Amino acid sequence: MNKKRLTTLVVSCIAALGLQAENVNISTKTTSLVVDATKGNDLKFMYYGAKLSDKDIVTHCETGGWKGQWNYYSTYPAYGVNCDQEYALSVVHANGDMALELRLEEVEKQGDVTIFKMKDKVQPFYVNVCYRTRPESEVIETWTEIFHQEKKPVRLTRFYSGSLPIRRGDVWVSHLYGSWANEGQLCEEPLNAGMIVIENKDGVRNSHTSHGEVMISLDGKARENSGDVIGAAICYTGNYKLSINTHDDEYHQLFAGINEEASEYYLAKGEVFKTPVLALTFSREGLSGASRNFHKWGRKYMLAHGDKVRDILLNSWEGVYFDINEQGMDQMMSDIASMGGELFVMDDGWFGDKYPRKTDNSSLGDWVVDRKKLPNGVPGLVKAATKHGIKFGIWIEPEMTNSVSELYEQHPDWVVKTPGRDLEMGRGGTQLVLDLSNPKVQDFAFSIVDNLMKENPDLYYIKWDANMNIRNHGSQYLSMDRQSHLLIDYHKGFIKLCERIRAKYPDLIIQDCASGGGRANWGYMPYFDEFWVSDNTDALQRVYMQWGTSYFFPAITMASHISAAPNHQTFRTIPLKYRIDVAMSGRLGMEIQPKNMTDEEKTLCRKAIADYKTIRPIVQLGNIYRLQSPYDKKGVASLMYVDDTKDKAAFYWWKTETFVNQHLPRVKMAGLDASKYYRIHEFNRIDNNPLAFEGKTFSGEYLMANGLDIPYTHDVDYNKKNAWSSRVLYLEAVK
Ligand code: DGJ
Repeated sequence: MNKKRLTTLVVSCIAALGLQAENVNISTKTTSLVVDATKGNDLKFMYYGAKLSDKDIVTHCETGGWKGQWNYYSTYPAYGVNCDQEYALSVVHANGDMALELRLEEVEKQGDVTIFKMKDKVQPFYVNVCYRTRPESEVIETWTEIFHQEKKPVRLTRFYSGSLPIRRGDVWVSHLYGSWANEGQLCEEPLNAGMIVIENKDGVRNSHTSHGEVMISLDGKARENSGDVIGAAICYTGNYKLSINTHDDEYHQLFAGINEEASEYYLAKGEVFKTPVLALTFSREGLSGASRNFHKWGRKYMLAHGDKVRDILLNSWEGVYFDINEQGMDQMMSDIASMGGELFVMDDGWFGDKYPRKTDNSSLGDWVVDRKKLPNGVPGLVKAATKHGIKFGIWIEPEMTNSVSELYEQHPDWVVKTPGRDLEMGRGGTQLVLDLSNPKVQDFAFSIVDNLMKENPDLYYIKWDANMNIRNHGSQYLSMDRQSHLLIDYHKGFIKLCERIRAKYPDLIIQDCASGGGRANWGYMPYFDEFWVSDNTDALQRVYMQWGTSYFFPAITMASHISAAPNHQTFRTIPLKYRIDVAMSGRLGMEIQPKNMTDEEKTLCRKAIADYKTIRPIVQLGNIYRLQSPYDKKGVASLMYVDDTKDKAAFYWWKTETFVNQHLPRVKMAGLDASKYYRIHEFNRIDNNPLAFEGKTFSGEYLMANGLDIPYTHDVDYNKKNAWSSRVLYLEAVK
């Protein structure tokens, strides 16, 4: 072990065993994770939380560390001996032995990764427990590498990425749940005796219902800007399981990793099973602090092009649905260009030859342009976009086909299917999932992007959709004794495919969409630039969905579009001003037919787009401070973004209900520099008179101690009055 590079402290000798206890400190700027790495012993947790001094680490460990009622906590508890507790790993060895006793053999440092190399006491079975810290991040990543030298394959029956003990007290968990068109809903509950299990079984997408990320508040019900919070995110695109077990002990225990259900994995001799990264963070600045840690880490190390602001786009879906034609696309491009937009994305409906894509029941897989709709093909559209001074993007759904398609006619063996059983179909009554565990299918999916790019080198953006789950467990590619590999191998195939695309097309911007927000996770972010938060574009419901989603994902990843009124999902009529004010808090775009907008509406959008360009770096690259949660039901929701220099900020305030003589809380700001003075300027103003504080300057101290008194209604002519009210304020420090 390289003792210089690890912060390693020898604290005591376990004389009876002749072992030397060495505590390894894996630290970030503000946090420490300490493990007892005594050779010949299991690897044990000693501490995770606010940064400890070297001296405190020694004393903490000498005086007990994280000792539970009976024993220390293993960092990676394995099943088999003393196994009445929850565990992270269980196997059936080649000879039928079901036990594991992992013992530390050595510790190795490879760059920013610390590897604890463990071996079973009896079998030639090995686990590397890995931790990575990054120079500019408050996130610690952990995962394991599992391999063996046994004579025959070993059956892995559980294989989580890691675990973490959390001291009992008034501990709460915040997590997201939902469904299609209602993603990212916040759920907060205290941790009581028993087990909370958050999991996904979709097979393809994994965030429509619950999310594989949690926040754990250590000192009472979660607060946004104060209190100790641990955040955990499983960085995986497939089925996950995240559980928190509260046993008769001093600690809750968190486990997270791939969901082992229907996924027993036969590990061949010499093969390495690498579990997905479990990202952990700790903050003393409440939920928003933990979110900022995830956002910074994500933008810097996980997200494709995480340091570049995104273009303002118009997506064709809600404007025309499947009714694609050249003239219509040209008109939409011209309209978004005239409003200051930078990109146009043609959604579903542009492809299919023998089976033209008229609705959702055919053609997926037949990625040739429908010449009747688009005589000049995709090149004609790219050319038109250039003429309008904007970029062009296109929708595809590479992981899917329809039973009504030329692809399915040629390759019925490529679909995910239970051998010997009838097919259960998805969307349109004909949709099927392609089997990405099959390398030929991976090649085919790669060719979809490759062919588009070869034909259209200037194609700038791809919207990558995925609208079906795995309903027919079975692979026609995998052998019958490896059918349980499907759910894992599908995602290995998906990531391989993404790696291949990125290797050839590093600059392409790719949105992940999966029937809306079905696939928001950090597992695919290295290959994607953003995701579609939800198929529901209703601005009020978006306040709730985007609030929850922002717990783990930064605004730069959250596609947020201005759409029509009445809304196509809720049929609620929300004025354009409010729709703009909500969309502007994420990655702004439009999802509307501009030709149906009035000139006045277009002018408002043009102005908003111009103003968004001013605050875009603050929103997309800045630091979030959530101020007033819509889930508190106080009648208002509010958040702000502050740039790294604390010179600029964007403040959002949305009324979530309207009652006469209702009293709304005055929202205190956060994250500003108390000693700086900020000038206030309202964006998207519709009022006849400016706000009382328009153009005025206030100290950061005042704004954070008092906030501003935002009027509850808009000062507009009587015939323009409505039940909605929202504000976007731009704050700029004055010299
Ligand atoms: C589902 C997506 O979420 C929508 O935005 C749209 O792209 C449709 N698919 C197209 O079929």
